[in-house]
Amino acid sequence: MRVLVTGGAGFIGANFVHWTRSNRPDVELTVLDALTYASDGSSLGDAAPLVRGDISDAALVDRLVGESDLVVHFAAETHNDNSLSDPSPFVQTNVVGTFTILEAVRRHGVRLHHVSTDEVYGDLELDDPERFSETTPYNPSSPYSSTKAASDLLVRAWVRSFGITATLSNCSNNYGPYQHVEKFIPRQITNVLDGGRPKLYGDGLNVRDWIHVDDHNSGVWAIIDKGRSGETYLIGADGEETNRAVVEAILRELGQPEDAYDLVRDRPGHDRRYAIDSTKLRTELGWVPEYPDFAAGLKATIAWYRENEAWWRPQKAATEAKYAKVGQ
Ligand code: NAD
Ligand code: DAU
Repeated sequence: MRVLVTGGAGFIGANFVHWTRSNRPDVELTVLDALTYASDGSSLGDAAPLVRGDISDAALVDRLVGESDLVVHFAAETHNDNSLSDPSPFVQTNVVGTFTILEAVRRHGVRLHHVSTDEVYGDLELDDPERFSETTPYNPSSPYSSTKAASDLLVRAWVRSFGITATLSNCSNNYGPYQHVEKFIPRQITNVLDGGRPKLYGDGLNVRDWIHVDDHNSGVWAIIDKGRSGETYLIGADGEETNRAVVEAILRELGQPEDAYDLVRDRPGHDRRYAIDSTKLRTELGWVPEYPDFAAGLKATIAWYRENEAWWRPQKAATEAKYAKVGQ
């Protein structure tokens, strides 16, 4: 099987390539990535050939899709805070880029797996007994999540109106190696490694539902192998934690007092809580997470950032300067 991986030089895409190399030696991979600020060619190493290009480049996308049996579409602008300061690349890449891929898979009759987020469902109250499921109505809050919601709806419409073969997944917050230092967990780990303090938005009590990136990617493969076209599958591993609890665990692991953090300006429109019910993926496709122990996964991730300073160091100062400008 020839698989085109968009966004394969980013966090989840690079881990997807490595996972696939280890577990699916029969698969031939090509990565299409624009190598934006969020990517790092070294995450990918020589695990797959890389074509540098934009998913909105119709001619390039048409050629690469035409040479593939399956497209796994990770490429996106992904950081909520950036979408608040400049939504424009989010609309371009997440909406127009996905449209460009859809038109190419339609022309060539190639299957698509579209990778999306639980943020399309909006947020939950802290005490809400419900979790997100495949039937939860879309209610996105941020420019990022609204452009991801738009891309999901385009995929669904192309299945229904044009009969393309496509599956969708909406996953909760990923953690693991090769995640950019702008994101919550790597930012706090590298702050402490740098002798600084973690920064918690607002009251620090927002909840995220953490999943190891390899479990996300094994879920994507379960859907590629056994999912039905037109269907959406939620991927989550029952990893709900408050942001404060995550920061306390990082501080403990790095030998600091667990209250050595700062509360900073809240994110405008900050979603309060995400929580995924992944019953459909587990019961229909038989998926189970391999890393359900968040505390153990967090420790391993802290060790990875400790041992791979050369990977994250080049991005750190500029990322912190951007946060400092907005009081975060
Ligand atoms: P990331 O920001 O780490 O990587 C995104 C990659 O896409 C980068 O390599 C970047 O260069 C590339 N890219 C951006 N614009 C492009 C363009 N126009 N053309 C080609 N390549 C482009 O993102 P990530 O965290 O790895 O997320 C990957 C996907 O998974 C996204 O679609 C995201 O919405 C989804 N997702 C992420 C999470 C999470 O917790 N990180 C959870 C659920 C779903
Ligand atoms: O739920 C899936 C989504 O998870 C993905 O679709 C997004 O691409 C991904 O970035 C992530 O979105 P979040 O906004 O949840 O992730 P982020 O790492 O930006 O923040 C996680 C939580 O931590 C959130 O409540 C905001 C908070 N936060 C974040 C940063 C960077 C802080 O308290 N301090 C910080 O410094």
